[in-house]
Amino acid sequence: MNNGQTRDFPSDFIWGSATASYQVEGGAYEDGKGPSIWTEFEKRPNAIADNVDGDITSNQYHCWPEDIQLMKKAGMKAYRFSLAWSRIMPDGKGKVNPKGLDYYKKLCDGLLENGIAPYVTLYHWDLPPVLQQEYGGWESRETVKYFGEFASCAAEALGQRVNHYFTINEFLGCTDQGYSNGIIAPGLKLNAKRRNQVRHNMLLAHGTAMQALRSAAPHAKVGIAENPVFMIPAIDTPEHVEAAKLAFRERNAHFITAVMEGKYIDSYLESEKENAPEVMEGDFKLISAPMDFLGLNIYHGKFVLATPGKEKPYMVYEEYPGDSSVLFQPAAMYWGCRMVNELWHPAEMVISENGLQGNDHPDWECKINDLHRIKYMREYLSSLSRALREDIPVKGYFHWSLLDNLEWCSGFRPRFGLIFVNYKTSQRIPKLSYEWYSELIKTGRLV
Ligand code: FCB
Repeated sequence: MNNGQTRDFPSDFIWGSATASYQVEGGAYEDGKGPSIWTEFEKRPNAIADNVDGDITSNQYHCWPEDIQLMKKAGMKAYRFSLAWSRIMPDGKGKVNPKGLDYYKKLCDGLLENGIAPYVTLYHWDLPPVLQQEYGGWESRETVKYFGEFASCAAEALGQRVNHYFTINEFLGCTDQGYSNGIIAPGLKLNAKRRNQVRHNMLLAHGTAMQALRSAAPHAKVGIAENPVFMIPAIDTPEHVEAAKLAFRERNAHFITAVMEGKYIDSYLESEKENAPEVMEGDFKLISAPMDFLGLNIYHGKFVLATPGKEKPYMVYEEYPGDSSVLFQPAAMYWGCRMVNELWHPAEMVISENGLQGNDHPDWECKINDLHRIKYMREYLSSLSRALREDIPVKGYFHWSLLDNLEWCSGFRPRFGLIFVNYKTSQRIPKLSYEWYSELIKTGRLV
């Protein structure tokens, strides 16, 4: 029932959900798939919580028809998933595995037959290990080159099935977390100089894949899924808003700012000094080629205060004393979209990820009443609707995640799904948040 109220979201808003290959597929050794750096990383003792592995996870490799029906029943219009590079090219280069391509063709066809648009991420952190061993992975431009070849190969095979691509998912996860903190694959701890080169090569990987997609899939819209550090002005006055915007641009100088502005801004170069990455002629032309849309993964935000008269005109609060729920910052949604829009005016934006982990388990009636997730979604989406009211061009929202899955080094403990997965049987049970989301999709209204 409408009760005469207006919608919070337009009827053509693209509602969807998101996953990534290593986290949901399973089928880790099937039909000619090669390993990934995760298949190796998971063998290190305690690299992943409880020493679990990605052999089966949510088993989407086998359960995809059921998953599509669940998406359809909720009214979802789009599904964001990633391609496992080594399912398609077991060695990351050269020989192509037709059965790997067949899997993604079937998945796309199944989605399309049910009115769901495939949004394909080319790289969500599962590099073929041959490229790691032979070239040091993203430390080398060779890997970047092979990524371009992989992008062409995948896009040619998928053809008209796919109209939307994200080149890569989250720069930080591809670079610092794997190459300098070492908390995710490949688990390295490089110095700042080498880390900065990995960061630069990753930007280049984005640009190289863009170029490959423009010729292999000229019909498709191409963007990126990035998770910058979002800034929220502590007080909504022009002074604090400007300070937060400046902090946002500077804090993300090595990733999104570089892509959007086609250069490393001075503050970044000054802070890195002799560790600044080597940039070759033409790099930034590739890196900053115009995108059709910008995907933002929005989970957190940091508060910012203007500090007039001080050397640094802003202060970023990394933590909020007295507040234990630092991860719950719905205002990041509105301010994130607004700042990106004011700074760089992207043609279109989508929220490529947003969601909450929980320790969700069925109760004695086999129900999962995840009210914490409903609360989270209501608050974040209400913040997003504020952005829409101000005509910020956000066209869609992909909830992370469709279903419970393997949360990288945290293993199976955090459950992010709208749908519960029993990892022993692969059984799916929609949670209460799934019902809530279905209703929102139907009515366009937040209740
Ligand atoms: C994002 C990742 C995604 C998932 C969510 C919870 O940073 O892109 O794969 O792990 O966090």
